[in-house]
Amino acid sequence: MALLRFIPVLYVASCTLAVVKENFKSCEQSSFCRRLRGFKPEISHYELDLSDIQLTDNAVETKLTNFEDNSHFKISLSAVHGDIFRIQVDELMGLYPRYRPQYALNGEPQAAKLSVVDKSKDHITLQYSDNKATLHAKPFKVEFFKGDSLVAVLNSRGLFHFEHYRTKPSENENNEVEQQKKEDPGAWEENFKSHHDSKPKGPSGVAVDITFPGAMRAYGLPEHADKLPLRSTNGGEPYRLYNLDVFEYEIDSTMAIYGAVPVIYAHSPKHTVGFFWHNAAETWVDITNSKDGNVMSSLVNLVSGTQEHSVSAHFMSESGVMDMFVLMGPKPRDVVKQYASLTGVAPLPQYFTLAYHQCRWNYNDQDDVTNVVAHFDINNMPVDIMWLDIEYTDGKKYFTWDPVKFSNPEQMVNNLTSTGRKLVVIIDPHIKREAGYFLHEDSLANDYYVKNKDGSVYEGWCWPGSSSYLDFYNPKVVDYYKGLYAFDKFKGTSDDVYIWNDMNEPSVFNGPEITMPKDCIHHGGWEHRDVHNEYALTHTVGTFKGLTERSPTRRPFILTRGHFAGSQRFAAVWTGDNAADWSHLAISYAMCASEALGGISFCGADIGGFFGNPDVELLQRWYQAAVWLPFMRAHAHIDTRRREPYLFSEDVKNRIRIALRLRYAHLPLWYTLFFEHEITGEPVIRPLFYEFPEDSEWYDIEDFKIYNGGSHNIPVSLDKILAFYRGGSIIARKDRPRRASSLMHNDPFTLYVALDNKQTASGTLFVDDHASFEYRSKKYLYLHFKYADNTLTSNLIDKTDYPTKEWVERVVIFKPPPGVKGAKLTSKTLGSVDLETSYTSENKALVIRKPGVNIREPFSIKLY
Ligand code: GLC
Repeated sequence: MALLRFIPVLYVASCTLAVVKENFKSCEQSSFCRRLRGFKPEISHYELDLSDIQLTDNAVETKLTNFEDNSHFKISLSAVHGDIFRIQVDELMGLYPRYRPQYALNGEPQAAKLSVVDKSKDHITLQYSDNKATLHAKPFKVEFFKGDSLVAVLNSRGLFHFEHYRTKPSENENNEVEQQKKEDPGAWEENFKSHHDSKPKGPSGVAVDITFPGAMRAYGLPEHADKLPLRSTNGGEPYRLYNLDVFEYEIDSTMAIYGAVPVIYAHSPKHTVGFFWHNAAETWVDITNSKDGNVMSSLVNLVSGTQEHSVSAHFMSESGVMDMFVLMGPKPRDVVKQYASLTGVAPLPQYFTLAYHQCRWNYNDQDDVTNVVAHFDINNMPVDIMWLDIEYTDGKKYFTWDPVKFSNPEQMVNNLTSTGRKLVVIIDPHIKREAGYFLHEDSLANDYYVKNKDGSVYEGWCWPGSSSYLDFYNPKVVDYYKGLYAFDKFKGTSDDVYIWNDMNEPSVFNGPEITMPKDCIHHGGWEHRDVHNEYALTHTVGTFKGLTERSPTRRPFILTRGHFAGSQRFAAVWTGDNAADWSHLAISYAMCASEALGGISFCGADIGGFFGNPDVELLQRWYQAAVWLPFMRAHAHIDTRRREPYLFSEDVKNRIRIALRLRYAHLPLWYTLFFEHEITGEPVIRPLFYEFPEDSEWYDIEDFKIYNGGSHNIPVSLDKILAFYRGGSIIARKDRPRRASSLMHNDPFTLYVALDNKQTASGTLFVDDHASFEYRSKKYLYLHFKYADNTLTSNLIDKTDYPTKEWVERVVIFKPPPGVKGAKLTSKTLGSVDLETSYTSENKALVIRKPGVNIREPFSIKLY
């Protein structure tokens, strides 16, 4: 994250791309957003019935009434393991069932014990560990306390609103006609541009406000091309969560793009609280931050009786039940882990997936693929994965190959794998409607497609032209679809071929807002309106199953563009079609950091920018910056000039080579972070507020210069990649340059020890076979390195084993103690050995040569 501070220094405007905003709705143009945003009663219309509550060990349930229209709801508050409260609200005797997302949660949250600490006719207080929740009857609101501090209040502004399903008022009923007139004109049907939404069930919005007293900032709500801290949306557009294929999306914007993760974190130095709005329908979120104006002063008083800062969020969704999780913190680390405990973590990816990926739309043919790799080799630039975009197919029919350009995929794949490389091919969810195409014929015959409201098969326009869309809500479709990845079905593929799922928002070129009409019908009778933000996730679930069954001993790798809460369990994401512009390079960090806080750590941006041609300075800088994002892939639009890094002058090539090698040197660190993410839920990349609420020391990784926290002006040349090791860290690197990560498996480690001002440091390292699930059967090494009292030690954290040839080649200590004469290694097999030491870079670092110990063996190295 430190890099971001310095990028603006380099900013030059060079790109003139612009989104066509008219293709996408503003809140004013969306009936439910207009209604719910405009709903501002003086006092909440809702009242709890505390005279008749049902209490179990884990939950309290009662009735909620809207006394304006006398509609009734069932409300429950429960405790979820890990300091989480859950509140669910659904209609009592609703006209139609309401949708609950099916894939976001990683199983049913584990209930925790809840006890009543206080009850009267107008409130009830429940306690779980040091967390309390008070439900107030009239006006309805819920206060959340950590210890004695009030940290969140639901419905303090009275914006809670639940539009229960109704029958459409008929025109000959006078009163109801009157009633209808008062309604928003889009409540029962709605038009946008040339598109009509029939809304057969009528208005069904749900909305709630939640206020965080004391909070200074809020984070979350990916995916937006915006800065990391959320802005106040007063007077502007709310943050919109609606998975959309936005051509030439703009940055610094709250517009919806490809992904939707409805979680928010409100932060202050004292406590951090999270709120997860578990809803898959189109959602808009207004944010009000008291720091940004005086709008909140009355609210602050209302909530806390003080003039403290406060952040408030107003969530508005078009349909679904209300299912809300309050993550009680108290620190950023806790809320993010609490969120991960609900929606899951990314399973450890294969090692190669963290290396460098080379993509473009498109490599022309199989020889092109082989040649590109050969040029990387000639130029001593590492690359692990080649990618094929849509042109590899036979006329955009997925699971087929172009018979001329890719006539021998087996051989192409063999060429790649013989040099330790892999292939990724694209598979989109739209299916070409072409007679004779097996996938289309099977899908028609078996009723696998999403339907129009009248039950006919929905047809939209995408890359292949006329297309229909697989309905992954039908379990039979998932069963069929996963089978398509079998080697005998997808001919030419092998264990070394992985998958890119694109256009799965879903993108429909001629659909409303470039997506599927909301009144389309999915299996189970759900309208697309109910499930929209979850559709991409269902696509990746199908692919994940396919890859797991196809290659049961290899961890799947999938890249997806559309995503939702929980997508991290199945796929990595990238930030879609960015532009070759400095501003897009800068925002890639904020976007991926936001995704990481939203549980999706495996994130990257197209290096160089998708649209347009980057100048060489931007391209170099992009490579240098991309070293430090989890997913590192170069990609470019079909109309751009070729820009494989070996095509440039020697000095440019050299800088990119250095950046790529730096990435490869740090692969053990990325891999260890992903392992730790799987066990703890902590993000792989972390913004500074998350990790360092106070300032720390930083070491420049190139010249070992020390920087204390705060702001620094550091001159940078094109050769300089700004990156720092935090004082107190030990980083295990593999510094021997190789062509691909697979060739580095047995290479030795160099341990970089960056001491803090107490002359101590620590770090971890995870080692296994890089590819299989054996690490889940204890076949791995998880090491803890510690430096204290002039001694470096390495020990196993877990009682596990993995036989490896990897060994320690070198130790580099930044800011070593003065007057070191030598170092002594002690280990079981090597006994006690004197090691050679020397100083480097004007005595700023001490190098200990050839400890020679296998990484599997505990050891110590004492300086004397
Ligand atoms: C979409 C993707 C882009 C891809 C293109 C063609 O625009 O975002 O990465 O190259 O489709 O498949």
